[in-house]
Amino acid sequence: MIAKSEPLLAIRDLNKQFRGLTALDGVSFDIAQGELLGLIGPNGAGKSVLVNVVSGIYGATAGTVSFLGSDITRLPSYQLARLGIARTFQNIRLFGRMTVLENVLVADKRYLTRPFRSLFAKGAHDDLAAAEDLLERVDLIEKRDALAGTLAYGEARRLEIARALAGGPRLLFLDEPAAGMNEREMQELAAVIRSFRPALDAIVLIEHDVALISELSDRLVVMDSGKVIATGKPVDVFADPRVVEAYLGVEECDD
Ligand SMILES: Nc1ncnc2c1ncn2[C@@H]1O[C@H](COP(=O)(O)OP(=O)(O)OP(=O)(O)O)[C@@H](O)[C@H]1O
Ligand SMILES: [Mg+2]
Repeated sequence: MIAKSEPLLAIRDLNKQFRGLTALDGVSFDIAQGELLGLIGPNGAGKSVLVNVVSGIYGATAGTVSFLGSDITRLPSYQLARLGIARTFQNIRLFGRMTVLENVLVADKRYLTRPFRSLFAKGAHDDLAAAEDLLERVDLIEKRDALAGTLAYGEARRLEIARALAGGPRLLFLDEPAAGMNEREMQELAAVIRSFRPALDAIVLIEHDVALISELSDRLVVMDSGKVIATGKPVDVFADPRVVEAYLGVEECDD
């Protein structure tokens, strides 16, 4: 039986090396059922590498990842997707010459079957209705027949989210979904994230905008140089001198 307190995802001593470079250095934290967890840290902290390891894009060098108590560390990404772990990419990855709707349908098929096997099976009316519903929810239904390559930046980011939601994941990682957005697009994105939150067991949001991440997150995990340096409520984390030094200091210099 699953104890009530069992985390959705448990990351333990995760390590990722790229030749000489240590991108993840003993990362451990839990993702609790129901939470929206903000993952922050300066450029190069290891946030995207963490998502890539957890979602099976990169293999871990050492350490474990458990999903509801089962070890999933070595599973390939399509099996993780079937278990309900989905993610968006920091660099938008859409099929530019497919329509908006097709981009969602393709993703759905990838959850149901091995990648690119029978992508457009006939008679998939449920998939179509589900895909249209997702496009409705991210406010892209009117663009359903437009080529994805013609979308404005904020729209493309929302389509990425719709695609990640196809197939009904339980845990969703959003890797800088607001990057490059203006204030209005960010607020639209925040509304979209809030709207689908009840349908998911947990969301991990990577975001540099302090106001946006504080507004949306129940809890923050702060990384720097491949390590977790702080966790806690946004208001406490941003008052932590280590975080101010590692994160805010760098952000102010960069931006
Ligand atoms: N495929 C790769 N091969 C070699 N090094 C990599 C690879 N991917 C990431 N790295 C390195 O791992 C470190 C962590 O990178 P990562 O992309 O996780 O940072 P990040 O926290 O997501 O930063 P940002 O906020 O800029 O997106 C960096 O030093 C980066 O150069
Ligand atoms: Mg990144």
